[in-house]
Amino acid sequence: MGLEIAFGKGNYLYDTAGKAYLDLIAGISVSNVGHANPAVNEAIRKQTDLHLHTLVYGEHIQAPQVLLAKALSDTLPPQLGRIFFVNSGSEAVEGAMKLAKRYTGRFEILACDRAYHGSSQGALSLNGDEYFKRNFRPLLPGIGQIHYGSFSDLEKITNKTAAVFIETVQGEAGIRVACSRYFQELRKRCTETGTLLVMDEIQTGYGRTGTFWGFEKMGMAPDILLMAKGMGGGMPIGAFASSPEFMNCLTENPVLGHISTFGGHPVCCAAALATLQYIRENRLCEMVEEKELLFYRLLRHPSVLEIRSSGLLMAVELGSFEKVWAVIEYCLKNGLITDWFLHCNTALRIAPPLTISSEEIEQACAILCRALDETATRN
Ligand SMILES: Cc1ncc(COP(=O)(O)O)c(C=O)c1O
Repeated sequence: MGLEIAFGKGNYLYDTAGKAYLDLIAGISVSNVGHANPAVNEAIRKQTDLHLHTLVYGEHIQAPQVLLAKALSDTLPPQLGRIFFVNSGSEAVEGAMKLAKRYTGRFEILACDRAYHGSSQGALSLNGDEYFKRNFRPLLPGIGQIHYGSFSDLEKITNKTAAVFIETVQGEAGIRVACSRYFQELRKRCTETGTLLVMDEIQTGYGRTGTFWGFEKMGMAPDILLMAKGMGGGMPIGAFASSPEFMNCLTENPVLGHISTFGGHPVCCAAALATLQYIRENRLCEMVEEKELLFYRLLRHPSVLEIRSSGLLMAVELGSFEKVWAVIEYCLKNGLITDWFLHCNTALRIAPPLTISSEEIEQACAILCRALDETATRN
């Protein structure tokens, strides 16, 4: 985009010339509680006064890690109550791949077409889009693919499958949402075959879809849950959560089955705890649906072919990249930041901070509609 950002505050970013931009993408679903959130910044300041890194994750007992793990486990069913902190989403994926292989003794893993799980070698091996993989082969062996949302493909899950990795909502595919019955059947098939079900909530977690975790809407729960992005309120942190039974197998043969120097960095944990508390105390999840509906109401325009969404994770389908790019350029000139998706360049990304107000949604949609008017004649 070429913007040089000087600072962020609330739902706005400011460039070095002092121009304000309403942020409709929140750093790709990261800044759920807005930029420079005072509660998050205060938690960071307090922790930096105490200590930064002390020793490789897990060796010392550190209050920010313990408090965050407790608060997270309070949002989760008991079978997801054990949490391993890492530094990013991709690392959470890597940890979960190892855990599934170690627990099941199997190595075959299934992931979905159009999936995005990150950019490290294991995560990349799971991704759906060949374009991003082809020049990095060979990747991991034993990776197969199922169609996201396809009931018939559930038969591909067998007693040789270590794990199925799936996004609760496919974000980078341009917001694809499978129905809750699909997730329940997927859960059933994984249980039948002794396969671990890994749900990637790296983009959907921390309130983005209107519930704290996206899987809450599906009437089922995974064996391993992945989180990152919005978790740190802008600081780098991720985690994989599972049951004590599964997680214990990383403690022996080998001991230290997963190691991370900076995983659970105390400053990031303090920020993640403040973020969780801010979302809860300000009832941000409860307001997501109303805000989502307001976008639907205000984005009625002949150029909009379809809106796909789950809470404030939305795709506005325009049908061509030329249109998308023209709208993005117009919006940037007019103080609004939007984007497209890694695996879908024909739709605009709308994933603002969950703190966005109704007035700001009105402003954003007015600019978007003017942009759509201006660009209506493009292909
Ligand atoms: C669903 C999903 N999984 C995994 C990742 C990878 O996270 P990270 O970029 O923190 O490694 C992303 C990042 O966009 C994501 O959206």
